[in-house]
Amino acid sequence: MKHDTIEKSMPLMVVLIVIALSWGGLVEIVPLFFAKDTNTPVEGLKPLNAVQLEGRDIYIREGCHVCHTQMVRPFRAETERYGPYSVAGESVYEHPFLWGSKRTGPDLARVGGRYSNEWHRAHLYNPRDVVPESIMPSYPWLFEDKVDGRDTPKKMEALRMVGVPYTDDDIEGAKAAVDGKPEIEALVAYLQQLGTVITKR
Ligand code: HEC
Repeated sequence: MKHDTIEKSMPLMVVLIVIALSWGGLVEIVPLFFAKDTNTPVEGLKPLNAVQLEGRDIYIREGCHVCHTQMVRPFRAETERYGPYSVAGESVYEHPFLWGSKRTGPDLARVGGRYSNEWHRAHLYNPRDVVPESIMPSYPWLFEDKVDGRDTPKKMEALRMVGVPYTDDDIEGAKAAVDGKPEIEALVAYLQQLGTVITKR
């Protein structure tokens, strides 16, 4: 009987649905404000320097994240292949994060230090020169195009507003640090630091 009354009264139904959804929302969302491990940087985590930051933007521009994830999941098959699984505290300075969802190529969350700079350069110039069966595209223009540092300080300021601890000195020196650097150098610098804060678990 009671159920009948509820189902036939639209206003009552709306009120009850709102209460049910709000409760559900509270239970899921409120604990996140107190969950420290998702927003506390892991020990030793530093913001990307200006060159690495520009490298990251090249990574995004070229769509590397479309084929590569940056997220080692906590499964044995993953940790044996890629290294220690990823934790939230490694990504607190990432805006936007690049965890990705599709692996046409291998995960890159821990690729930093795995290969030499020369390997990366050869691989990005033409992947088939070092991995004959590779289907990864070539990126020869990265060797000709230069980084334009005009926007670098502004990017850092924007990141600082959302909590990345750049100092005034970092921002002041940013343009000079990146201006005119070949794009390949910035991209490789970015790749070489990926996942290096945590080396074992
Ligand atoms: C169309 C998909 C695709 C795109 C886009 C792509 N890759 Fe790849 N990548 C692959 C595949 C497949 C492999 C495995 C074969 C190889 O090593 O070349 C790979 C391998 C790699 C490796 C070696 C990883 C390892 O652990 O051996 C690195 C580093 C890498 N890619 C970086 C990049 C970067 C940087 C970009 C953007 C400039 C990029 N990739 C864009 C498909 C892609």
